[in-house]
Amino acid sequence: MSELSGKTALVTGSTTGIGRATAFALAARGATVVVTGRNAERGAEVVQKIQADGGSARFVAADLLNADDVARLVREAGDVDVLVNNAGVGSFGPSAGISVEQYDAMLDANVRAVYLLTTALAPTMAERGGGSVINVSSGAAQLGGAYNAVYGATKAAVGSLTRAWAAEYGPAGVRVNAVAPGPVLTSVPAEMLQGYVPITPLRRIARPEDVSEVIAFLAGPAGAFVSGATIPVDGGLTAAEALQPF
Ligand SMILES: NC(=O)c1ccc[n+]([C@@H]2O[C@H](COP(=O)([O-])OP(=O)(O)OC[C@H]3O[C@@H](n4cnc5c(N)ncnc54)[C@H](OP(=O)(O)O)[C@@H]3O)[C@@H](O)[C@H]2O)c1
Repeated sequence: MSELSGKTALVTGSTTGIGRATAFALAARGATVVVTGRNAERGAEVVQKIQADGGSARFVAADLLNADDVARLVREAGDVDVLVNNAGVGSFGPSAGISVEQYDAMLDANVRAVYLLTTALAPTMAERGGGSVINVSSGAAQLGGAYNAVYGATKAAVGSLTRAWAAEYGPAGVRVNAVAPGPVLTSVPAEMLQGYVPITPLRRIARPEDVSEVIAFLAGPAGAFVSGATIPVDGGLTAAEALQPF
């Protein structure tokens, strides 16, 4: 028996990047994965790869900026044991240049969708005896990066929600945790991230699998007594950055 056999995992933003790697990691541990995102073609590719590797998955298209779509995703996902709130959007630049539309998209994708999905699914996990919610935050929640203000605020909100929900749902057996990646090689061109290498103690940029393995740990029995935590997955970046001048 694999450690997540018989469990269903919903992974938002699993058509690419960290979410895609997470879908593979959870499927490899035996979970049936509900892959979701807006791009049906990429979603189908993820499902096909999981199935080709002997796993189980299906795709549900949904736009997390649309609350009705989120409600439909909840209905179509059915019983969920592991919820990974991974999808996120970021607009970066001088704060005064962030449009209301960009601001709303960051809040809606990074906070409201996490709130809607967790409050719909954590109570049903509780009714069935337990579950695990893993939210994807960011090192930007902790570091005051210029040009990161709104994005960082949404990710700080994710950390706060994580702690509050760990307290709220823990007595019913639902664990709620977060991971806080530093820069990860996904949709951002690798050249743009190279500047982080010399200030990262482990001297490289993360791969999506560096993050997905920690998410899989939090989803499974090895993480059975971890709740309310936000685990940095950043090669030591946030721990060390403040000391760089010395
Ligand atoms: N990459 C990094 O350096 C980094 C660092 C720290 C934290 N993070 C966080 O990690 C998470 C994943 O990041 P990533 O770099 O893997 O992202 P990515 O490669 O840009 O992929 C984003 C995913 O989110 C989905 N998505 C975006 N907008 C959506 C919407 N409106 N409705 C539904 N799905 C939507 C996309 O699917 P579709 O295109 O199919 O809709 C895609 O699967 C995010 O929360 C991000 O903030 C990333």
